Amino acid sequence: MNRIGTGRTRSAEENTAVENTAMEEAVMAEEDIKSLGLDPVQYRYLLAQAEPPTPVQRRLIAQTRALGPASEMQIPHEQGVLLTLLCRIAAARLVVEVGTFTGYSTLALALGLPPGGRVLTFDISEEWTGVALAAWRDAGVAERIETRLGPAAERLRELPEEPMIDLVFLDADKPGYDTYWELLVPRVRPGGLLLADNVLYAGEAADPRCTGNGRAIRLFNERVRADSRVESVMLPLADGLTIARRLPPSGTGPSGTGPSGTGPSGTGPSDTRPSGTHPSRMRTSGSEASPSGEGER
Ligand SMILES: C[S@@+](CC[C@H](N)C(=O)[O-])C[C@H]1O[C@@H](n2cnc3c(N)ncnc32)[C@H](O)[C@@H]1O
Repeated sequence: MNRIGTGRTRSAEENTAVENTAMEEAVMAEEDIKSLGLDPVQYRYLLAQAEPPTPVQRRLIAQTRALGPASEMQIPHEQGVLLTLLCRIAAARLVVEVGTFTGYSTLALALGLPPGGRVLTFDISEEWTGVALAAWRDAGVAERIETRLGPAAERLRELPEEPMIDLVFLDADKPGYDTYWELLVPRVRPGGLLLADNVLYAGEAADPRCTGNGRAIRLFNERVRADSRVESVMLPLADGLTIARRLPPSGTGPSGTGPSGTGPSGTGPSDTRPSGTHPSRMRTSGSEASPSGEGER
């Protein structure tokens, strides 16, 4: 029970107002680090044009923020709204996410799926995905989400060839993007989407002399531009988001471009993996990621 300074007990309305203010601060505090080129007034205006976060999303933002500097890794709310929209536009039924963290982006992806849709989300840290699980449950989408723990490059190689993936979201270690891209492009159905986060890397990627993660992202961006299997565009949203669409193999018609499970490119249920073939689920192995989240976005 919360008590105000006077000793009297807060009403339910007052409690809600206090919680909302704290959560609002948590949402808005991201403006300093996640809005390339926008000042706070412009960013507030931009945020106000998007579907506002649900109470569960607000709580997850606040919980993630309480983790300290690592919270910088969470996508901002407006990007979550875009992920939900893109899932719906692509009529996605099977989504693969690389980089779960505390599950904000996973939640946004899951909210864009129809009943029976699936998000397979990969991360190396069990600590953070624990925070995520509670939020997914509270939002009523836990049944749509499967967590695969361990180094993503290893876990992704275990994916079956069918059904094909409708939408991919890359948001893990930046030097790993090239590997994830090469593993996943062939598994995305024609017409499906591949999204990559942090492709501006706070502007560093635009500098030919960039090093470290900025360099890794710059080289990844060159790879995407040169890839004839996709058409793509980079948006200056948050830290930069590339949206790529898988083209049909040359010489084929428009067939096979529907969502997984609806056409020739994906005829099975969203996840046909035989049960028991993934002992790694919900278990961390290896240590490729920095558990502190330092150096990542
Ligand atoms: C930027 S965060 C993801 C943020 C998340 N998409 C969100 O919006 O909340 C990057 C995540 O990638 C994970 N990661 C780093 N290296 C990894 C690897 N080699 N394999 C799998 N996950 C990795 C980290 O543990 C971290 O949770």
